[in-house]
Amino acid sequence: MTTQPEISFAKIDVPKKGTVILLSSEDGLSATARRCDPAGVLDNAFRVAGFEGKSGTSAEILTPQGADCDRIVVLGLGKSTALTEHSWLKLGGVAFSHARKSVEISIILDAAGVDAGASEAASVASGILLRAYAFTKYKTKKDEEDTAEDRKPPHFTILCADPTKTRKAFAEVQGVVDGVLLARDLVNEPANILGPVEFADHASALESLGVKVEILTDKDMKKLGMGALLGVAQGSPRPARMAVMSWNGGKAEEKPIAFIGKGVVFDTGGNSIKSASGMEDMKGDMGGAAAVTGLMHALAARKAKANVVGIIACVENSVDGHAQRPGDIVTSMSGQTIEVLNTDAEGRLILADALWYCNQRFEPKLMIDLATLTGAVMVALGQHHAGLFSNDDELATRLLTAGLATQEKLWRMPLGAEYDKLIDSKNADMKNIGGRYGGSITAAQFLQRFVKDTPWAHLDIAGTAMGSPSSEFNQSWGSGFGVRLLDRLVRDNYET
Ligand code: BES
Ligand code: MN
Ligand code: ZN
Repeated sequence: MTTQPEISFAKIDVPKKGTVILLSSEDGLSATARRCDPAGVLDNAFRVAGFEGKSGTSAEILTPQGADCDRIVVLGLGKSTALTEHSWLKLGGVAFSHARKSVEISIILDAAGVDAGASEAASVASGILLRAYAFTKYKTKKDEEDTAEDRKPPHFTILCADPTKTRKAFAEVQGVVDGVLLARDLVNEPANILGPVEFADHASALESLGVKVEILTDKDMKKLGMGALLGVAQGSPRPARMAVMSWNGGKAEEKPIAFIGKGVVFDTGGNSIKSASGMEDMKGDMGGAAAVTGLMHALAARKAKANVVGIIACVENSVDGHAQRPGDIVTSMSGQTIEVLNTDAEGRLILADALWYCNQRFEPKLMIDLATLTGAVMVALGQHHAGLFSNDDELATRLLTAGLATQEKLWRMPLGAEYDKLIDSKNADMKNIGGRYGGSITAAQFLQRFVKDTPWAHLDIAGTAMGSPSSEFNQSWGSGFGVRLLDRLVRDNYET
């Protein structure tokens, strides 16, 4: 991670140095913003630039001689009535991008007709930190654009109506930001550094936040009968691990909600080997496990009032003389047998055992799994929605709502008996691939065979966890998709 900007909050006033960022709605600037421009040059600059306060636009001036600050950047907010939480998050990201080489940046958080409170200011701060993230730990020489070694991290002062209240609001969301950044770091990390054991160590590190963490080794999983998961792991010299993270912030007697993540640290495809082009992206095949780990970080850091279990199944899908073969039949922990017709459909195999284990051990109120499960979900939805599959309409609706609020968007896809039939096998209870069509659906049907009647949702995040289009507040290959979404789901529905 790069050096993160420093952020502080102060009362609205006219800044005396550095870069000043002002906001303009389509109704114009606030009175305080006007006071930053005693020479009255902004209107002219707006006219020349054709700036009208529209969302996503900006205007910039270097201040005339004698002014206190160096530079004024005005960011358009659009219609003051159309602002959402997401607008403020984006605004923070855009503000960071305009800071460039400045060290002192002040943002005056008001505009004509706009009433930005503590939560809006906290969202701006989150946007700054999310945008500032870059995965540069392996660059020994800094790019010109990058900060020089001796450059101080930029310092943002957010000038807002109620700094005290804002500091409190920000302390809450800061944990969520840290969770997103942790997830991004894990996804970006190459597989030679991040194996299953190392991944489990990252989970264990959450103990410092009060998360209870238990690590199951390959031997433990063998005793539990997790033949589906271990079949995937057997082609790699690096042993599998499962991390079970518990955050008990709710009532003692209350059943937990559970999140389960696919943690394939690298997916070669196994004997059904993938083609070389783009295979490097498969270092991100643990995006589900990264999101679950980032989520547990977020929930613990903000002391969520809920009982939550996070389980990550970490394996490497590699290929050597011990690797499983197409046609092998494995016995899952549930007792159901699986004919492995394609060793590249490995995510469902490890999740089968993780879901079963989770359900049996915790009897959770609900289970949500996240997995970079199928290329087919990208064919269906592109990279702007993750696929949502669920056996429970209420849970699905809650997830869709959280998706809209955080703009980590989901699109519900079908499940049904006709699809389920497609994975029946002649030689075992089921096979691990369906036919040519509906690849994301047959994958979800497979998972459903391991959840019984527990309310469950499956998020196929193959298109959104990595390599998705960059945004105002994400420039990183690993996006951390799922952390803000599920934090929101918990916050809005499952806290006491
Ligand atoms: N990890 C892949 C899915 C994937 C592909 C994620 C591209 C992100 C980007 C998964 O394990 C896989 O290989 N799925 C196969 C399933 C097929 C063999 C039925 C796929 O999608 O081709
Ligand atoms: Mn695969
Ligand atoms: Zn995979």
